[in-house]
Amino acid sequence: MPEFVPASRVTRIKSSPSVAAAARVRELKAEGRRILDLTVGEPDFDTPQHIKDAAIAAIGRGETKYTSVTGTPELQKAILETLQRKTGQQYAPGEITIGGGGKQVIFTAFMATLDAGDEVVIPAPYWVSYPDMVLANEGTPVIVSCGGDTGFKLTPEVLAGALTERTKWVILNTPSNPTGAVYSREELADLAAVLKDHPAVYVLTDEIYDEIHFGDGPITSLVAVAPELKNRVLVTNGVSKAYAMTGWRLGYAGGPAPLVAAINKLQSQMSSCPSSVSQAAAAAALTGDQDFVRESVEVYRERRDAAVSGLNAVEGLQCATPEGAFYAYVNCAGVIGKTTPDGREITNDEDFTLYLLEAASVAVIQGSAYGMSPYFRISYATGLPVIEESIAAIEKAVTALA
Ligand SMILES: Cc1ncc(COP(=O)(O)O)c(C=O)c1O
Repeated sequence: MPEFVPASRVTRIKSSPSVAAAARVRELKAEGRRILDLTVGEPDFDTPQHIKDAAIAAIGRGETKYTSVTGTPELQKAILETLQRKTGQQYAPGEITIGGGGKQVIFTAFMATLDAGDEVVIPAPYWVSYPDMVLANEGTPVIVSCGGDTGFKLTPEVLAGALTERTKWVILNTPSNPTGAVYSREELADLAAVLKDHPAVYVLTDEIYDEIHFGDGPITSLVAVAPELKNRVLVTNGVSKAYAMTGWRLGYAGGPAPLVAAINKLQSQMSSCPSSVSQAAAAAALTGDQDFVRESVEVYRERRDAAVSGLNAVEGLQCATPEGAFYAYVNCAGVIGKTTPDGREITNDEDFTLYLLEAASVAVIQGSAYGMSPYFRISYATGLPVIEESIAAIEKAVTALA
């Protein structure tokens, strides 16, 4: 058999570390090990019944065929109304796109806009996929460090310093994966003031976690604060996280018509449209009863509080209180340089997460995967008993370090 040589776009990127972590946990479990899994990037709840019923009804009605690239009329209407509610701005049918998850929408947006050497400003810590999606599409990720001192958020100064003639996009993710940071109205206004002086720069605001937040009132979208930027902001979202629908694969975005037309042209050649059945489910999710969202946020809040106070009580670990999503980003500088009971030195966050897996059977993801060390990410999209047991096991393992 001839040697298989993948395209350079494949060799330029790596597989998603969170997908790899999930695979490793599955392997260990298959070997019979009981693993306390805090790597999970999806709600542990089932999709609400009324959403499943809408999908079943759609199948019953024979809605099992291709739809238009931008979806069924019902889904389009639901997305337009949702975008108006979230941004305060009116979007037209030619200003929305849909895809197989927010992930595919973001990937296609880069594919539709990046030429070799175009730069994308990515605040770190970042969602693991952004840099590789940029690289796969020949762009250049420009990683800017946004540490705990600024709440893991991009500041106007750092943004201004990162913009160049080649900047095509700036990514803002609020609430953030992996930190749970949420940009306030004022912070967004300050960033918008910088962006106003750079009219060629587009902004991708990834708001996939916007319904999962612990403050008063809805989270603020950049477009709501700076409507004058609407013609160069792509607001991306989806039903995965808010409605426990990760497997349905339905994401959407709103943005300026020429950009959206370019994305839809690619979509027409890549997938024609996402699953018609998932579209019916997503329309029901966006327009139906929102009690599930409210109730799940209260469950996440209780888990967040338990996780944060438990982790902060462990000497050597430190964790800010996340304002949204279902992750906490834990500083582990206090354990770096220590030695495990079998004599190995913990030199970085990857060593530490491996040690936690071996010694405590707790799976978390190292900060290096998100572009900022020494940290690790925990997900609290898992039951309170697992969180409590994990923290006790982490504490025991940290105490055993010398
Ligand atoms: C920050 C962020 N954006 C986008 C996505 C994509 O979600 P989906 O493709 O399920 O809509 C994820 C999923 O983990 C995420 O964490």
